[in-house]
Amino acid sequence: MKITFHGHACFVVEDAHHAVIIDPFITGNPLTDIGPDSVRVDAVLLTHGHGDHVGDAEAIARANDATIIAPFELAMHFGAKGLKVHPMHLGGSHAFDFGTVKLTIAFHGSGIEVDGRMEYAGNPCGYLLTMGGKTFYHTGDTALFGDLKLIGDRHHIDAVAIPIGDNFTMGPEDALLAAQFVGAQKVIPMHYDTFGLIAQDAQAFVARLEQQGQRGIPLKSGESLEL
Ligand code: NI
Ligand code: MN
Repeated sequence: MKITFHGHACFVVEDAHHAVIIDPFITGNPLTDIGPDSVRVDAVLLTHGHGDHVGDAEAIARANDATIIAPFELAMHFGAKGLKVHPMHLGGSHAFDFGTVKLTIAFHGSGIEVDGRMEYAGNPCGYLLTMGGKTFYHTGDTALFGDLKLIGDRHHIDAVAIPIGDNFTMGPEDALLAAQFVGAQKVIPMHYDTFGLIAQDAQAFVARLEQQGQRGIPLKSGESLEL
């Protein structure tokens, strides 16, 4: 499994045969290294309806004839636009051609902007994505919660991406405990530095992860982690 970061909470995850993109916020993302037209994927996974996660989902799904995988209500939003969707919900898993997806809880909001108004988009989620025998956990936007320990105990997680930006999600202090709860060896900080409000010192976070026996991998946009 190859995990490539494209800024904020956007990752492309691929093996030799398939690729998926999670939270494709590309247009308007000051940290991204790619354009939406260069993305080649089989599926688009969305954690929630906020603009900094849905991003270019519609354009990418259309250009690739890709399926949008999302919590039910958010999937229906895109289904109504004629896109291929696969609705799921919290706790559910499904085996796709590219691998297995399981939706985890995330403590955050959801809602999608339609004509300047916020429409209901169900619950936010995180994703446990298993491809080629490796599991990547994208927590989505979330606060710290105790069941991260349960999720870590029940799944062998090779790498986890955790928000550290604070204000809209957990900050670095809580993210350290979240990483410990999940128990993955490799921890990728996300959802920071994109805007001034969520600026963080990723190197300081990584140093403290090392003190608790975990490896922090502060990927820059365009950098990959091979599992
Ligand atoms: Ni959000
Ligand atoms: Mn966000």
